[in-house]
Amino acid sequence: MKFLTVIGARPQFIKAAPLSKEIRKRHREILVHTGQHYDYGMSRQFFNELHIPRPDFNLEVGSGLHGAQTAAMLAKLEPVVLKQKPDAVIIFGDTNSTLAGALIAAKLHIPLAHIEAGMRSFNRMMPEEVNRVVADHLSNIHFCPTDTAVKNLKKEGITSGLYLVGDIMYDAMKDILPSKDQTAKMIKKMDLVAKQYLFVTIHRAENTDNPDNLSSIMEALISSDKKVVFPVHPRTEKKLKEVSLWNELKRSENILLIPPQGYRESLALQSDAYAVITDSGGIQKEAYLLKTPCLTVRHETEWVETVKTGWNHLVGPDKKRLLKTLAKLKLPSAHPNLYGQGQAARLIVGHLERHLGR
Ligand code: UD1
Repeated sequence: MKFLTVIGARPQFIKAAPLSKEIRKRHREILVHTGQHYDYGMSRQFFNELHIPRPDFNLEVGSGLHGAQTAAMLAKLEPVVLKQKPDAVIIFGDTNSTLAGALIAAKLHIPLAHIEAGMRSFNRMMPEEVNRVVADHLSNIHFCPTDTAVKNLKKEGITSGLYLVGDIMYDAMKDILPSKDQTAKMIKKMDLVAKQYLFVTIHRAENTDNPDNLSSIMEALISSDKKVVFPVHPRTEKKLKEVSLWNELKRSENILLIPPQGYRESLALQSDAYAVITDSGGIQKEAYLLKTPCLTVRHETEWVETVKTGWNHLVGPDKKRLLKTLAKLKLPSAHPNLYGQGQAARLIVGHLERHLGR
């Protein structure tokens, strides 16, 4: 069979790595990079590190307003899909690249498979929520990472083509996770002491584009008694400079600002952290899998199981709540298996073969 996979943003590169490997054992894959992420540290670094095949097409759309960016992807993706005539289009997650892939496949009547289907924050103010809902309703085949995702889709009337496969990020993580010794070496090199620092990532529009939220989170970090390791997403850096917080962070002795990290470094930094502070979906889940407590600076999450089990705390972009939760942090005793066995890629390809009848 011939699959056309659409990727464009950092977490999609990570998810594509194990799937591409599995697809290419028996099938042909056309890999399309929309160009949504284009900096070395946001894109190429992951292709090199995870040995992701070179994209067959790079649409080079770059950044832009949501409408313009998605429209540019649609205009450039359509001729590629028309020419390639794949048996199915595969999309991941909830970015604008996901939305573009979904719309093109639906318009061209090509079966559409959505990986990480059924996730919901129930907050339509988030661009990702809009993308997910549209992608799920246009998809024919839904690969869900959790029971909750399956239930969410059923509640929305999507009852066929549902497959619970676990989380594909777990596959990727298992492939590359550094050993305890390697992790120790990596964090020592950065002058860090295990379990005595916070690992922080902030990039969601609702935090970066709202100066009050951004200031509240940054003030909490500055006043924390822990060392803070903060790999800065390019949009966050731009916004921090706009609201004049960048220099203050640089002057703060406990804050270490670093560029976006590769996947191995990111996993190493998370696994030895005292806690992770984030607004990313993927990192909430990674922190859970690595048994590091997480504070999520959002009001809701799609990964509700991490909160129910006590490993993740929704603190919102709220300085007081963040610091109070940090001060009272305890490790839960139970750590149930929430995300499968790290075999999602193998299960997905098997289901695709059966579903598409080849
Ligand atoms: C996107 C996804 C988000 C995902 C995240 C992973 C959407 C709506 N959001 O958010 O779901 O969690 O990717 O990182 O698709 N920029 C650069 N260089 C780059 C990429 C971005 O400088 O390589 C800057 C640009 O100023 C750009 C901004 O970051 O305007 C935002 O990038 P964009 O891709 O629109 O959204 P993300 O915040 O990365």
